[in-house]
Amino acid sequence: MAQHTSHAQHERSAWSGKLAFILAGAASAVGLGNLWRFPTLAAKYGGGMFILTYFILAFTFGISLLLLETALGRRTKQSVIGAYSTFNKKWKFVGILATAVPFIITPYYCIIGGWVTKYLVSYVAEGADAVAAEGFFGGFITDPIFTYVFMVIFMLLCIGVCALGVKNGIEKANMVMMPLLLVMAVGISIFVLMQPGALEGAAYYLVPDFSKFSPDLVINALGQMFYSLSLAMGIMVTYGSYLDKKENLSESVASIAGFDLVVSFLAGLMIVPAAFMALGLGEGGTMAAGPSLMFVTLPTVFDGMGGAAQIIGIVFFVLVLFAAATSAISLIEACTSIIQDGTHWSRGKSLFAFSVFLIAAGAFINAGYNVLIWIEPLGPGTQLLDFFDFLSNSVMMPIVALLTCIFVGWIIKPKEIINEVRVSSKFKLAGPWTVMIKYIAPVLVIAILVANVLPMIFPA
Ligand code: PFF
Repeated sequence: MAQHTSHAQHERSAWSGKLAFILAGAASAVGLGNLWRFPTLAAKYGGGMFILTYFILAFTFGISLLLLETALGRRTKQSVIGAYSTFNKKWKFVGILATAVPFIITPYYCIIGGWVTKYLVSYVAEGADAVAAEGFFGGFITDPIFTYVFMVIFMLLCIGVCALGVKNGIEKANMVMMPLLLVMAVGISIFVLMQPGALEGAAYYLVPDFSKFSPDLVINALGQMFYSLSLAMGIMVTYGSYLDKKENLSESVASIAGFDLVVSFLAGLMIVPAAFMALGLGEGGTMAAGPSLMFVTLPTVFDGMGGAAQIIGIVFFVLVLFAAATSAISLIEACTSIIQDGTHWSRGKSLFAFSVFLIAAGAFINAGYNVLIWIEPLGPGTQLLDFFDFLSNSVMMPIVALLTCIFVGWIIKPKEIINEVRVSSKFKLAGPWTVMIKYIAPVLVIAILVANVLPMIFPA
């Protein structure tokens, strides 16, 4: 192993310090998952009740896995496949499985990034009325050429940042985008809360409705947490591998989770009251989920805000663009690093190879909304994007998480990770962490997997 490690270390990228690592982790974590999935789930599962459950899970289970992945990366100085096989060749397959996840997610994530880019351009060029007009979203996503062009623009933007390197590209981009993102999220939340009727919506979001607590809520909170913290897909292993041994791992990981939680919370604070005002959620209306919330409901709400509509639309979509771009950059970086470690190609060549794959795979999935709309992989009305989202998030991520916990808890033994964390921090909670990884996490992950997959096998 020693030989392998030192060879890889030569060419490995590295963060300039702890802040860069925290910002990069937060930049990967904060994304579309925070901005549209969290508010939708919170509104569905009794507001404060969901938020509370999510916070507890994120700060116990989520943070434990985050620490495990980053420590594994830093211990081995390898991206995910190498990280597993360094310890045990037989477990290399978990690394391969984990690797497959970002390769599946990146193309469809960039398609949505393309939609966000299009909305921003339209807010600037055409104004709020045009974007809120009936049929705007449907008309756009069914156009094979325009959607493809915007997807490629978004991809090139992100690839460009990665091409500049870890220190000159990713770190610098995060340093600008992440603080701005936070400022915009606070600004829009305050603005939305000042609108007439918004406080009632905020109460709906914040006050826990204990009657909504159910196993279903816990499963959904867990699934959301995985996606939101970019867990079980090798990203955090790669990012950990770029971190210097002297930086405090446990504090950094807590900051990443904290940043992610704050943005999720703020997203709910801006979106739930806005949707509440528009849809009268209090009277039993339901909030649109996923794409239509962001691309149909919100533009309608903004349009009702008079003179401020265009500005608020622009600021909101800049925020979403930053969140989507920083997450996509982390996905591209992880895939590039995997190619680089596997082939020993240069970083540039690896990035180029991945870009070719990305543009081709994106074209295929994008066609699922137009030319290939007749393919309905998960039943009537579903598209290719839904299929790849389901495959990666609902099936592969829980499997990778389960195998990771077994690998660390029972094969290489937790001590290996605890020692790595202790290189740079005290890690007083090593005992509870071990119990989490060996016993609690595997049970929770199996529950997610069963809940996700059973309905597919036995539809109601
Ligand atoms: N965590 C991101 C989000 O919440 O949108 C999504 C994501 C980014 C998932 C990067 C996976 C990933 F590797």
